[in-house]
Amino acid sequence: MKKENIYILGIESSCDDTSAAVLCNDQILSNVVADQKIHAEYGGVVPELASRAHQQNIVPVVHQALEKAGIKKEQLSAVAFTRGPGLMGSLLVGTSFAKSLAYGLDIPLIDVNHMQAHILAHFIDEDHHNKPPFPFLAMTISGGHTQIVKVSRYFEMEVLGETIDDAVGEAYDKSGKVLGLGYPAGPEIDRRAQLGNPKAYQFTKPKVDGLNFSFSGLKTNILYFVQREVKANPNFIEENLNDICASIQYTIIGILMAKLKLAVKETGINHIAIGGGVSANSGIRKALKDAEQKSGWTSYIPKFEYTTDNAAMIAIVGYLKYLEKDFSDFDVMATARLKI
Ligand code: KG4
Ligand code: ZN
Repeated sequence: MKKENIYILGIESSCDDTSAAVLCNDQILSNVVADQKIHAEYGGVVPELASRAHQQNIVPVVHQALEKAGIKKEQLSAVAFTRGPGLMGSLLVGTSFAKSLAYGLDIPLIDVNHMQAHILAHFIDEDHHNKPPFPFLAMTISGGHTQIVKVSRYFEMEVLGETIDDAVGEAYDKSGKVLGLGYPAGPEIDRRAQLGNPKAYQFTKPKVDGLNFSFSGLKTNILYFVQREVKANPNFIEENLNDICASIQYTIIGILMAKLKLAVKETGINHIAIGGGVSANSGIRKALKDAEQKSGWTSYIPKFEYTTDNAAMIAIVGYLKYLEKDFSDFDVMATARLKI
């Protein structure tokens, strides 16, 4: 007998991207993301503006996702949404919308942990993408998170280490601000890093025990370094921008890879999956490929559209929970500080 198709609508609104996606089983039919340009003017996400923009975008984005997928809302099997972690005002928009829609259609509601979703995005069925075998290590690196997680099964995850202050994406963005680059600065630093000398300048690496990370000291180190050099030569930044970017990137990738190496050593697991906006970075991708050659690791790098915040990753978690009939009560609350 042919199995019935399961259609999941995923909704993501944890930070500054409003996104909706439709999955048929584990395959993506649509993944629509409306990013919010407004925050660039302020050099960072402004929570109040983010929640207003979600409010404005949510209906058109969901409408577009259904239209692109070529299905009617009455065909949906369940609605999955990001419960947390994230900005409260932003989460409330997606949570309320998902509840109303699921209630109106009389279908199950499924709450999703955003951090689990960054990891489980690897289980979206895609050509040319191998799914990591259990157990594997996942490193989530973005503007809001930096974690190394041991993943034993879909919903059996253990955080082995995380940042004690800034996330790695913030280290990129704040360094970029010091250099006068636009927000978010990660992609621009990455582009320039590939044109510069990574050993031109040395920055101090944080000393944090175990598998935890710290990036706030590096940010201050870069700030003082640039201030000192600009005092001596007002054109220092313009004249050396590619070398500065290459040196920052070299330092950051060095920090991430050192912790990954330690995690592999401690757990004996050498299947490594990455996720989050910074996994688009050319330096980390190259370092992981090198580790495959040198250390026998296997790395899993998501397709670009599933690295930054998106609803496809929420919908795949929705699908996996749907299979287990792990549904939410309608009084479930958005939670800003949700743990894995
Ligand atoms: O996952 P994401 O879209 O949102 C958060 O949850 O934060 O990640 C955005 C972050 C920003 O900090 C951005 O600068 C960084 O990802 N980013 C990069 C690159 N592309 C995006 N950082 C370094 N290199 C890149 N190529
Ligand atoms: Zn994220």
